[in-house]
Amino acid sequence: MQRGEWVAQALTVLGLESSCDDSAAAILRRSPDGSVEILSSVVKSQTDLHAAFGGVVPEIAARAHAEILDICVEEALAQANLPLAEVDALAVTAGPGLIGGVVSGVMLAKGISAATGKPLYGINHLAGHALTPRLTHGTAYPYLMLLISGGHCQFLVVKSADSFERLGGTIDDAPGEAFDKIARLLGLDQPGGPAVEICARSGDPARFPLPRPLLDRDGCDLSFSGLKTAVLRLRDRVVEETGGLRLSDRADICAAFQASVTDVLAEKTRRALTIYAAEKPQTATFCVAGGVAANASIRAALETVSAETGADFVAPPLALCTDNAAMIAYAAMEQMTTRAPDDMTLSARPRWPLDQSSPAMLGGGKKGAKA
Ligand code: KG4
Ligand code: ZN
Repeated sequence: MQRGEWVAQALTVLGLESSCDDSAAAILRRSPDGSVEILSSVVKSQTDLHAAFGGVVPEIAARAHAEILDICVEEALAQANLPLAEVDALAVTAGPGLIGGVVSGVMLAKGISAATGKPLYGINHLAGHALTPRLTHGTAYPYLMLLISGGHCQFLVVKSADSFERLGGTIDDAPGEAFDKIARLLGLDQPGGPAVEICARSGDPARFPLPRPLLDRDGCDLSFSGLKTAVLRLRDRVVEETGGLRLSDRADICAAFQASVTDVLAEKTRRALTIYAAEKPQTATFCVAGGVAANASIRAALETVSAETGADFVAPPLALCTDNAAMIAYAAMEQMTTRAPDDMTLSARPRWPLDQSSPAMLGGGKKGAKA
């Protein structure tokens, strides 16, 4: 299959995703007029399997993906009411992520490709997230994206389906990882983000002042590791002073933590938009993706910053903000117009930065490589 051969044809793509703790398969169809429809999108979360361990256990995740991915494919085909024969091409997350899970997906996709002769595209998981606003809102290139999830945190200028510029990102943990850790510290459920958000609703964000990491540093890099430590110390201090944690203490700590993350993300977004606006003077578009974008206070603050700087704000629906296979199939649809398929040498890449020209960000989070 040569590059560009798929342009202006009806096209059906089966996507697979298994880079963290969600096993997913989806079928997308592009009509000759260019419109794209999600025929099915199956996501099976492994949250229950990892609950007892307080975080994602890579070996358990890999085994679960290997056991359930083919069932996801069968369900995706059934929901789309399509036989596999009508799928034109396969797309699979080939990284970055937890290596065992990525290998499970790549092996399954290679197997289907070898058995059916269908072309295979290895997709960067981050490209899937970054291109989602085009699938959901038809957003035109270029745009600025903030990807905030359990494993990722970066500002990307999305220039085309295979050209990304990273303006900044976390130098240690991802914000979702921090939410999950705070929930563990306070004895709340996992995933921590929704639990902390609910608990924070009745809290007073002003009772415990927490730091706003890296605001004293120029640019739009972020850090959440020190904030986690500050919350740990705060919890221990409250326990020491009052003999335990009351519900109101928990709520006030959650509210203080959420306020800090919100302030930092809002200010760094303001800076990223300023940097981006200097590059692109026309009306800028600012998009968010990732599970943390589900947080109402964070989302509202980002929308406000966007409005203040005159940028259009795009937030894909939550089911397509979090990990899914529709975004992987869609990224392949875009890349198929410019590149040839991968072959059987396609390998899983635990680390795979989108912007190859920028220096690698530090650290590897519990939920996978941040890239
Ligand atoms: O994008 P996602 O589903 O998976 C990856 O990490 O790639 O994001 C999951 C992360 C978890 O850390 C979860 O705690 C966080 O997103 N999250 C939230 C909220 N909902 C999910 N964080 C803050 N507030 C929320 N409402
Ligand atoms: Zn993700």
